[in-house]
Amino acid sequence: MAGRIPSAWMDELYSRVDIVSVVSNYLSLKKDGRRYWGLCPFHNEKTPSFSVNADLNLYYCFGCKAGGNVVQFVMEMERVSYLDAVKLLAERIHLPLPELSEDPDYERRRSQRERLLAANREAAHFYHNRLWQPEGKQVLDYLHQRGLDDGIIRRFGLGASYERWDDLTSYLLEKGYSQDELALAGLSVVKGDHAFDMFRGRAMFPIIDQQGNVLGFGGRAMGDVKPKYLNTADTPVFNKRKGVYAINLVKKIRDLKRIVLVEGYMDVVAITQAGISGAVATLGTALTNEQARLLKRFAPEVWLAYDGDEAGQHAIERALDIFESEAISAKVLYFPDGLDPDEFIRQRGLEAFQKLKPMSAIAYRMQRLRLQHDLETQEGRTEYAKKCAEILKKVREPVEMENYLELLHVQTGFSKEVLLAQIGVSSQEMGQHNMAAKRESLTPKRMRLPEGYKTEQTLLALLATGKLPADMVKPQDFSDEVLSSIADLLLSGAAPAQIIAEAENDALRQAAGETFTILTDEERENAAIVAADCLRNLQIQHLQHEINAMTALMRSADSGETRARALQEVAALSKELARIKQQGR
Ligand code: UTP
Ligand code: MN
Repeated sequence: MAGRIPSAWMDELYSRVDIVSVVSNYLSLKKDGRRYWGLCPFHNEKTPSFSVNADLNLYYCFGCKAGGNVVQFVMEMERVSYLDAVKLLAERIHLPLPELSEDPDYERRRSQRERLLAANREAAHFYHNRLWQPEGKQVLDYLHQRGLDDGIIRRFGLGASYERWDDLTSYLLEKGYSQDELALAGLSVVKGDHAFDMFRGRAMFPIIDQQGNVLGFGGRAMGDVKPKYLNTADTPVFNKRKGVYAINLVKKIRDLKRIVLVEGYMDVVAITQAGISGAVATLGTALTNEQARLLKRFAPEVWLAYDGDEAGQHAIERALDIFESEAISAKVLYFPDGLDPDEFIRQRGLEAFQKLKPMSAIAYRMQRLRLQHDLETQEGRTEYAKKCAEILKKVREPVEMENYLELLHVQTGFSKEVLLAQIGVSSQEMGQHNMAAKRESLTPKRMRLPEGYKTEQTLLALLATGKLPADMVKPQDFSDEVLSSIADLLLSGAAPAQIIAEAENDALRQAAGETFTILTDEERENAAIVAADCLRNLQIQHLQHEINAMTALMRSADSGETRARALQEVAALSKELARIKQQGR
């Protein structure tokens, strides 16, 4: 418990609580020099051996060796927990508790969260049980007809919502949940005085997080009813941009080599049943950065197994961008004939699925470009070669580069030397690094900018006030990893006090405790303006760093080609820098 309270706040408490007056409530003390003496409350004695030192904020009994600071004293005397002792002392000096001063709403939200999760859990059991009753037969038949067996239905906790108006709602109202709670959880819709079920006549897919909390549901309509899938809207416990379907099952797999990311709930269930492990899906939205980072925690690589239709293929390109921006290794499984993973594995079998060769992101992107250009014409070949050259800048391994170059050479007729020049890497340099790799090594993405730390702290503290416009600040704005992860927590709805209380490690707790308290009143009042300043300063610092790195590269480069490119980069960066500085005026 000790660590749950910000140290700055504890310091404040200690500095304002007078241990002598606290102890004096329980026994009489006599002053002797700098120390006070009394009869020890913890053991029976006739002559005082219990001492209190006000300067050091501690007590000690030379008789029974009891000792500690003012908090431990209250814990002992009142037989309360550390936290309760702290609360008692805070009350005594009228110091608002950190939770209350940061966010008076915290307690209420925490208990509300628990109620909603409990309601969701009851709902999941309810739907699952409904499936096996006579009225659930239509849904059960549907799931069977989709090829699912009872084992997999149980494993995913699939369920049935009946066509009735308030089947679940009346059940949960009877259990003591209020209409408001059910509406908040997205289980019921309230119209006038009445609450109705949100999901009716659907196959239910409970969405469960890695801790086993039921966050919400996806409901598949029977037949052609629209929408085909109805998903729980965002609620106090559910954010569709943050979670992924079936992560609870993935968590149980040890040493998972890769996640298979698919588009639909049904795809996850179907390929899992067929024997593919590590399948997850996003929740009715395109992949987000948060989801990508979540996946990174469970496997070193992600295979994108989206639908073979155009929409799916387009979504793959966007997902690849996201994985790239998060430095997550991603590959692509391509399903022919517009099939989705569920259809593919049912039509062609597990073996065919396992035989699919995952494509590298680069090979996939080249293939997509290939389809968009007519290589029969000189114009098409030139355009295609240029766009591929852009993509190939990211290749690190010379041997891989050679393979791609060979392919591109055969496809377009351009010589490898010309293609390399287009890529911006001279053949001599291939043995060492390419431009992109060099640049990266000089300006690592998450470089710590010491002069920027204070700015980042201010920005984070402003974010914590909750006074900034949505989307103004992103985790990527922070080069310090710890601050960045705190920003991530704040943006996902965690209260500042909660972050401190639930910090994963001391570094995070300390940084949070230190940061949340640094704002002056003036900064707090002008939150958005100050934040804009911080962001601009960080951008300027970042550009300055890049310019320095490029300048260094320009000086050290041994090929004219590299020098020329670096010079170009410096010019472009300087222009950008000037523009941003101009904005500040
Ligand atoms: P698809 O339409 O590809 O679903 O949507 P699917 O998995 O092939 O569905 P079946 O096989 O017909 O049952 C993929 C995902 O997009 C979201 C859902 O998350 C779905 O799993 N979606 C789709 C919706 O949220 N609403 C919709 O109306 C349709
Ligand atoms: Mn499908």
